[in-house]
Amino acid sequence: MIFNQLQAAVLLLGLQATAGIAGSTANSISKRDPCVPLANGFEAIDDSPAINDALKACGNGGTIVLPADQFYSIRSPIDFTPCKNCDFQIEGQLIVARGQWDYWRYGFSNGSVPAFFHVPNVHGARIHSVTGKGVIDGNAIEYYTTRYDSGIGSTISFFEIKNSSSDITIENLVMKNVMHRFIRAQGNSTNLTFRNLTLTMEEQWGDYPRNQYDAAGIELGMVSGVSISDITMAFSSMKTRVTGPVGICIPFDVGAHNIDVRRVTCKGAWGGVLVSMGAIDYLTSLLREPVPPSLTADTIGNIYVSDLTFSGNLATGIMSYWFDGNTHNVTWDGVTVLDGTPAFENLCYLKSHSNTPFVPNCFANLEATVTDVWFKRFRGNGLVAPEKGSWDNPGKAGYNNKTVIRVGFEDWGSL
Ligand SMILES: *[C@@H]1O[C@H](CO)[C@@H](O)[C@H](O)[C@H]1NC(C)=O
Ligand SMILES: *[C@@H]1O[C@H](CO)[C@@H](O)[C@H](O)[C@H]1NC(C)=O
Ligand SMILES: *[C@@H]1O[C@H](CO)[C@@H](O)[C@H](O)[C@H]1NC(C)=O
Ligand SMILES: *[C@@H]1O[C@H](CO)[C@@H](O)[C@H](O)[C@H]1NC(C)=O
Ligand SMILES: *[C@@H]1O[C@H](CO)[C@@H](O)[C@H](O)[C@H]1NC(C)=O
Ligand SMILES: *[C@@H]1O[C@H](CO)[C@@H](O)[C@H](O)[C@H]1NC(C)=O
Ligand SMILES: *[C@@H]1O[C@H](CO)[C@@H](O)[C@H](O)[C@H]1NC(C)=O
Repeated sequence: MIFNQLQAAVLLLGLQATAGIAGSTANSISKRDPCVPLANGFEAIDDSPAINDALKACGNGGTIVLPADQFYSIRSPIDFTPCKNCDFQIEGQLIVARGQWDYWRYGFSNGSVPAFFHVPNVHGARIHSVTGKGVIDGNAIEYYTTRYDSGIGSTISFFEIKNSSSDITIENLVMKNVMHRFIRAQGNSTNLTFRNLTLTMEEQWGDYPRNQYDAAGIELGMVSGVSISDITMAFSSMKTRVTGPVGICIPFDVGAHNIDVRRVTCKGAWGGVLVSMGAIDYLTSLLREPVPPSLTADTIGNIYVSDLTFSGNLATGIMSYWFDGNTHNVTWDGVTVLDGTPAFENLCYLKSHSNTPFVPNCFANLEATVTDVWFKRFRGNGLVAPEKGSWDNPGKAGYNNKTVIRVGFEDWGSL
């Protein structure tokens, strides 16, 4: 199917399809901006090198345009390192080539392949579609439907924003069927904007899925100053071996601060917009990126989520895996629950098929604080707020006396 599209593109383009960077040919005198890398037109030929050359040539303050009639085959990472205040316009389609899933997942696990779109220590990048036609197609249905693994690759993200990047905007794009996670931001990155995105996935869970964190929409680790708005996400699972939804639309992990989320629709997911410590690479993330002591005192905070529409398992709340930290000032305000549990809390949760590590120890030993957390204006069929104090601790079964949970519920009702 993709071959047909690509071949059609070749026919349409004729000889042009073999051109390199149209805007930066040898005879252009001084101004090579914008750079317009063209696709080769074959799934087997990697177009990432041409796109990377364009980023090197025009990334410093310039514009890179991937035109609307182009179909790019992605076989290796696109590296935004050369980008400084660059404008990266995706009007055509970027399609991940099939058949090399192991390259991505094992390469990501062993550190040799950073991500599909690698955004490390980048200051100023606008990655968007001007015409509204831009599509990123992760093409991973083949991977999901043939996958049989222990979940080792499930932490790979399509976009990885890290190492103190700042002023990164991703907007007006459609992204679909990526391997596991769409966008991850971490590593002290700041001033991030994710706006007007449609993120959809089909057929994930694979042949033998490992855990409900197997997919994610926009996941935020150690970041601050993040604006997320007008996002539509829909996940749908394969349901052959395991029924039920998978993935979390927006998980907030350790270090997420100053985040504003508005107008999000999340359908078919296991989790909606959740405080979810441990979601990013749950078993090893905390070991890989050392946690500064300041994060124990102030782990996740100043988060406001409004106008969320959810259908799936669990719309909001805290579903975290054992982190001795302090979560404060998190508000969900205006949540429509079409289907599923409106809000839930468990600081020792990790659903996993292959293993469920240490959960009993977690309840007995956790030292965590959750305060000033609010669930306001919830609407759903026959929705009634949990009893005042019903989540509060000490007193709640399970935890010891080293964990304090104080949350509030306000104005819940029927649709
Ligand atoms: C890391 O992964 C890449 C890509 O899958 C592979 O080619 C390479 O051999 C791996 N390296 C190690 C040390 O495992
Ligand atoms: C972060 O980026 C800086 C500047 O490019 C570089 O020196 C450093 O090695 C990077 N750190 C990591 C962990 O990649
Ligand atoms: C949102 O993005 C879509 C393309 O995904 C585009 O067609 C539409 O015009 C954008 N809307 C706004 C308000 O920018
Ligand atoms: C993030 O900032 C903290 C506190 O300043 C520091 O300890 C940590 O090394 C930084 N991490 C990265 C990936 O830059
Ligand atoms: C983040 O944005 C604010 C407001 O636009 C600006 O003042 C600040 O300098 C930015 N920070 C970085 C690190 O770019
Ligand atoms: C709580 O978080 C919001 C952002 O969600 C912020 O505007 C407000 O100042 C924070 N309140 C406190 C007391 O830090
Ligand atoms: C928690 O504290 C209460 C009141 O101080 C005490 O009655 C209870 O035994 C303690 N529970 C545990 C598990 O330490």
